[in-house]
Amino acid sequence: MPELESQKGAGEFARAKVNLALHITGQRDDGYHMLDSLVVFPRIGDHLSATPSDKLSLEVTGPFSTDLEPQSNNNLVLKAIRRLSQAKNCAPPDINLSLEKNLPVASGIGGGSADAAAALRLLMRQPGFTLASEDIHAIALELGADVPVCLKQVAVRMQGIGELLSPLPSLPDFGMVIANPRVAVSTPAIFKGLQARNNPSLPDLPESFASLDQLIVYLRETRNDMQVTAEALCPAITDVLSEMDQHPETLLNRMSGSGATCFALCRCGDEKNLAARIQKSHPDWWVAFSDEL
Ligand code: C5P
Repeated sequence: MPELESQKGAGEFARAKVNLALHITGQRDDGYHMLDSLVVFPRIGDHLSATPSDKLSLEVTGPFSTDLEPQSNNNLVLKAIRRLSQAKNCAPPDINLSLEKNLPVASGIGGGSADAAAALRLLMRQPGFTLASEDIHAIALELGADVPVCLKQVAVRMQGIGELLSPLPSLPDFGMVIANPRVAVSTPAIFKGLQARNNPSLPDLPESFASLDQLIVYLRETRNDMQVTAEALCPAITDVLSEMDQHPETLLNRMSGSGATCFALCRCGDEKNLAARIQKSHPDWWVAFSDEL
């Protein structure tokens, strides 16, 4: 294997995926749900890098490293590396991958999917491992419904089960705080517990969002259709939303994905203070903020 690009560069940043809105619009015969979602990627995430080694391996560091079994066959990072190698008819590369796990596991912000997407991007930077965009998109989708959107890592509208990605009107600047009560939530359990699966799609998007106020007005007409079920299964989600509600900086708050992470949107510049006050009230929660989306 030639010298790895990531030795010279900074590896791959695996940003958290936040669903500003998530409508469940149907269910396919294979059980997968059809979604209509607005997805953004705050500057909060895991970090994946690689160094040459005598075999393919993965080490996990960082605050949430103990929640992952790195050498498990189900580990999405290793699966992604093996799957892309297979598509290129190559043996998996002899590299040691190092994953800094900064995002909580099973938390509705696509951490595992973001890591798998980062692994695909990292390997595709190596000579001999590039693929046409439709082929890498198909591999990403095989790895998980959220992996294609994480591969792009830009704000998009996501439909189908996650494979249909279309550009959004440009978004105004805003700050974001995300908080997780450190309770893992099982995505299949929330999908299974849904009361309704045929909800309306997102309201028509405007050609542009002229201001943050206009975005907030739009988002108030949308929902996360998994939130009611998730709050029933995990009451700590309601605590996070109530805490966010108490702060005047919060313009809109909602759960992301299948939970338990919730986000609060605020004006640019308010995010650091808002995060600090939420963290102060709940030192046991994981709280992070971002001003770049
Ligand atoms: O695709 P992924 O492995 O991330 O999906 C995890 C679980 O969530 C699956 O069991 C699937 O049934 C469910 N899911 C779903 N509809 C989606 C995405 C995931 O039902 N669009």
